[in-house]
Amino acid sequence: MQTITTVSEMQAFAESLRAQGKKIGLVPTMGALHDGHLSLIKLAAQKADVVIVSVFVNPTQFGPSEDFNKYPRDLARDVELCGKTGAQVVFAPSSEEMYPKGYSTYVNEEHVAKPLEGASRPTHFRGVTTVVAKLFNIIRPAFAVFGQKDAQQVAVIMKMTADLNMPVEIVVAPTIREQGGLAMSSRNRYLSTSQREESLAISQALQYAKGMVERGERRVDRLVAEVTHMLGQKRRVRIIYASIVDRHSMEPAREVVPGQSLLAIAAWVDEVRLIDNVVL
Ligand code: PAF
Repeated sequence: MQTITTVSEMQAFAESLRAQGKKIGLVPTMGALHDGHLSLIKLAAQKADVVIVSVFVNPTQFGPSEDFNKYPRDLARDVELCGKTGAQVVFAPSSEEMYPKGYSTYVNEEHVAKPLEGASRPTHFRGVTTVVAKLFNIIRPAFAVFGQKDAQQVAVIMKMTADLNMPVEIVVAPTIREQGGLAMSSRNRYLSTSQREESLAISQALQYAKGMVERGERRVDRLVAEVTHMLGQKRRVRIIYASIVDRHSMEPAREVVPGQSLLAIAAWVDEVRLIDNVVL
């Protein structure tokens, strides 16, 4: 396992791999790796000659009142897990390395990024697209793997790569869930036992709505009302949004189109912000 911390060394190493004809797969992460991340790395290892995992808690995607400082960090553990899971290199730059003094260039996707997460976290996707574009430029991977759990992030990154003609294939891996259905997230470690218990309502509501669609329901308002009702039963859960949108454009759906419509939920479980989704 090799850990690289500077942009110049990462660029030179990736260049030498490409010169040897190696196919590079990138798994961008913010560390605190869990089984969800490991599933992305395993998928990348099936397709690539060399898997590079970036571990970088990206300051530009956190709002001023968000959890950047307390975001979990454990590089030694992450490196060990990457090695065991089939990655060859961890790229773990510092904030100063990625955003040196005077840094002033940002990548903005202006449509898919607007609703849902974009509405409640206005600078979030600007930070995501900027850092992902930088990682793509530094490493120039053949493909990069992202998790379906962050469905809007996937859609924004796909739009960015298409709009900016970036020669990187975007591979989407299914959401990995804990027992009980909670989607895996680095933020789950903030949940107490009772909060974790109540947070299960999110995936249960998604599954319930999917079942309604399978039984023929197509009305968006009926589905959203049911989900809102189910989450409303939980004392600790406050919905930020529960929306049915087109899975690629993130535009509101007028009625459900099976396979195309996405039900996305964001909710506070006390002070922990969780997101989850299902393709209906
Ligand atoms: O999904 C994440 O962990 C982050 O948003 C990403 C893609 C690594 C960019 O910082």
